[in-house]
Amino acid sequence: MTVPLLSVADLRVGFATQRGLLRAVDGVSFDLAEGQTLGIVGESGSGKSVTAKTLMNLLPSYAQVEGSVTFDARDVMAMAAQGERHFWGVEMTMVFQDPMTSLNPVKKVGEQVAESLRVHLKRSRKEAREESVDLLQQVGIPEPKKRLGQYPHELSGGLRQRVVIAMSLACSPRLLIADEPTTALDVTVQKHILDLLDELREERGMAMILITHDLGVVKGRADQIMVMYAGRTMEQADTATLFSEMRHPYTEALLETIPRIDMASHTRLVPIPGNPPDAVDLGPGCPFAQRCRYCSAACLPDQPDLKQYDHGRVCACHTPVGTEAGVAAHVANRESGVTPAGLDMGTFTPVEEKA
Ligand SMILES: Nc1ncnc2c1ncn2[C@@H]1O[C@H](COP(=O)(O)OP(=O)(O)O)[C@@H](O)[C@H]1O
Ligand SMILES: [Mg+2]
Repeated sequence: MTVPLLSVADLRVGFATQRGLLRAVDGVSFDLAEGQTLGIVGESGSGKSVTAKTLMNLLPSYAQVEGSVTFDARDVMAMAAQGERHFWGVEMTMVFQDPMTSLNPVKKVGEQVAESLRVHLKRSRKEAREESVDLLQQVGIPEPKKRLGQYPHELSGGLRQRVVIAMSLACSPRLLIADEPTTALDVTVQKHILDLLDELREERGMAMILITHDLGVVKGRADQIMVMYAGRTMEQADTATLFSEMRHPYTEALLETIPRIDMASHTRLVPIPGNPPDAVDLGPGCPFAQRCRYCSAACLPDQPDLKQYDHGRVCACHTPVGTEAGVAAHVANRESGVTPAGLDMGTFTPVEEKA
């Protein structure tokens, strides 16, 4: 076994709110090997960005963090406590959904790309400028010399995100975290940016964490996928296994929300009924139980642990898809028309079949 580049063990992040402790991340563990891509997928509010921000040491000071994060055998939390300056932005970098999070609107693009090179790598002005041209070229920006003299507002959203990617690559990171990097962009631009990230990762042998609410985005691009819900890992598997035989009903439900281009226009798109639970007051039981068509009586009082299945996959469910327990629960719910959590099974009928 090779030692992973990044190892996250039992990570918990809480925020004290007036209503009580909000458990944004509740016991997440994963390993990421050098050069590999982990996809983190889940609906809005499931704890994806908080996980990323924890790794990047970007949480507000009032966040309560437990667990351990190890990068190349170094304790990341200890580095944060010691005020380590040349780790974040150098070995581990991050690209956010909105490029303007990372760009200064009143500074020319050239100065911003050159900054990391000057600060962390101690390049001279001239060297930094030359390397900046190179970097913009690598991320597919046409006329890079001209772009360096422009301000962010003079660029399109897609070009701005390319600039941010160039900045994040400046110091040749070993891990790039991309948090919904294309969610704010046009559909046509999205694919270009995702392909670019994948090419750069491959060329540079970089590892990547690709965060998205859309399982379709990570389908051909991630080696491993972790599905998060209510701050917890619901299922984790290598990508091929996850797509060919997912075990968690939440994964299956997410998959049904992806439009499929290989199907005719009457493709069944089934939205997941209801909303994610309130992370302040989760109560006992499985956090997905209220929205799950495989829900059984055991799911309401008893939160399922993550269990190991075949092909190294893990899943936290009492009635996994494709297992005897899962099939039995689904049949029972269909027959009674309602789940033990009170969910109407008719909610799962695709829109066209109802009509
Ligand atoms: N700084 C914060 N203070 C309090 N609550 C927060 C903070 N950041 C995130 N949260 C809460 O943590 C939960 C997870 O958020 P987040 O990780 O941003 O979700 P997502 O999966 O959409 O990225 C949400 O309930 C969110 O409201
Ligand atoms: Mg987010």
